[in-house]
Amino acid sequence: MCGITGYISKTNDANTVAINCLKNLEYRGYDSSGIAIFNENKIKLYKSTGKIANLCEKIKDIDTTSKIAIAHTRWATHGKPTETNAHPHRCKNITLVHNGIIENYIELKEFLQKNGYTFNTQTDTEVACAYIAYVYNDLNIKDKLKCINEACKNLKGSYAFGIIFDDEPETLYATRKDSPLIVGYGDNGNFISSDITAIIKYTNKYVILNDYYISKITCDKVENYDENLNLVNLEIKTSDLTYNENTKNGYSHYMLKEIHEEPTVIANLYKRYLDKDIATIDLKKFDKIHIVACGSAMHAGLIGKYLFETYARIETTVEIASEYRYKNPIITDKTLVIIISQSGETADTLAALRLANNVGAYTLAIVNQENSSIAREAKKCLYTYAGPEIAVATTKGYTSQVAVLSIIMINSLKNNNLKDTILKETATIENVLEKTIDMLPEYKNIANKIYEKNDIFFIGRGIDYALCMEGSLKLKEISYIHSEAYAAGELKHGTISLIENGTPVIAIATDETLFEKTVSNVKETKARGAYTIFITTKSLADNTDVDDFSDVKLILNDMSKINITHVVALALQLISFETAKLKNCDIDKPKNLAKSVTVE
Ligand code: F6R
Repeated sequence: MCGITGYISKTNDANTVAINCLKNLEYRGYDSSGIAIFNENKIKLYKSTGKIANLCEKIKDIDTTSKIAIAHTRWATHGKPTETNAHPHRCKNITLVHNGIIENYIELKEFLQKNGYTFNTQTDTEVACAYIAYVYNDLNIKDKLKCINEACKNLKGSYAFGIIFDDEPETLYATRKDSPLIVGYGDNGNFISSDITAIIKYTNKYVILNDYYISKITCDKVENYDENLNLVNLEIKTSDLTYNENTKNGYSHYMLKEIHEEPTVIANLYKRYLDKDIATIDLKKFDKIHIVACGSAMHAGLIGKYLFETYARIETTVEIASEYRYKNPIITDKTLVIIISQSGETADTLAALRLANNVGAYTLAIVNQENSSIAREAKKCLYTYAGPEIAVATTKGYTSQVAVLSIIMINSLKNNNLKDTILKETATIENVLEKTIDMLPEYKNIANKIYEKNDIFFIGRGIDYALCMEGSLKLKEISYIHSEAYAAGELKHGTISLIENGTPVIAIATDETLFEKTVSNVKETKARGAYTIFITTKSLADNTDVDDFSDVKLILNDMSKINITHVVALALQLISFETAKLKNCDIDKPKNLAKSVTVE
């Protein structure tokens, strides 16, 4: 999703620093980029489609020294990813970068056109820029804080802006509503950024702007104003992230590196939270649980549903945040609302959290990004401590969410044999996951069998079905192979018509109570020509005729439901990775995708 950086420097390096910071936001996903600088007494704009490297190439021979720069990566929403539509945008004496969506831009555009404004792009951002120019020039509100405040009152939707006024080119203004923006305090100058990872090379000191707040930033001073334009003191936070130049650590891809981090991340989470008060929720206080999230985080929630319903016996529904926020959900004071988000900034998930907070629900967030909006606004937050996730497709982000949900469930169990067994087993999780990674040749073999296919089906029952949902999403997002996940018993109610000779069906059957049923479903697809890839555990495989109905099998060691869930998730991630690699896909930055989805 769009990324913003801005820097105002005591020296003339703002352009270089802003671009360096922008590169650290590449992981968010984008399709064009741009920068505005103040050089030779005027604001100059440079833009390019594609990678930031294209932008750098464009400006490499130009004298671009500047004290101030605002830079942007654009993930197209309104208008194609062209150079013209790329940010920064400029109107009259205003230049700005924007993250978010201005929902009433058509109305504002018509209004501005009647007032003599013309437009060159299809973007909502150009309209926002022109509207600020209108307030500044036509309404003659020359106090810049008042101008921004007044203009933003008439903008509907979400925004984070970095703004430069021509007549005050050594000051950077910033404001936000429902889109992330922080202000960084550096030794040689000050920053704005969509997140801390972008600027961590230069500073770990930052403030989070509240909605409607405005920052006035020069190279040696930051003033923050509230929505009534009163000067306020915001708490300066210190991030404990460290900057690491060689962030791939020798791996070919961030995704591979992040998969390899899973054993430690998961093991550390169990050590940190298992049987600890901080992660013990009195589930008995609630009569139902709503788990609300998007994408993979929602899939983690599906695993949570099975765990909470099976072991804690609490009715749990998993809700897609973009649906939940508009459906007037039935929330009572006995509803526990669990909000899951790696980034902590997903627009729909954040809106769902606010809705639940507004009706007085107890909200528990499971979040990776420290101090993100969701982490701050939930009544309680359990961090997943997965560390920065750079690959757009989540891996350790997702499995760490599953781990926290598992821990909440385990902590809610009374001390009994079941709990003892699970506790004993989770102590081995790091080793178990490392061994799972070691099975790479088997994943490569599966990838070889599927990478040239157009359609793939994943089937499973219970928790295995939830794992199929994530396995299928991972495969399609990074390898661009169409795939669908089905509850194994459901396929024959329609979709089985799509099974042809050679169509791969990946079946997961790790639950002994459902094993025979899933096997029957696999056989149904095999009878219709499917190429079957069967994933199960050793003891289950030993007691059946696996070789008769599987073209390829992946046999995992026997272990508890909790451990096997992590193992299967990791194995599916590696199968997707190897498949995408064979197809030469841009694995870390799949097309059209954004890491942090900060618009609806
Ligand atoms: C898929 C993926 C997305 C995210 C989803 C929610 O690999 O990464 O489906 O899971 O966009 O993002 P967060 O967890 O940041 O709210």
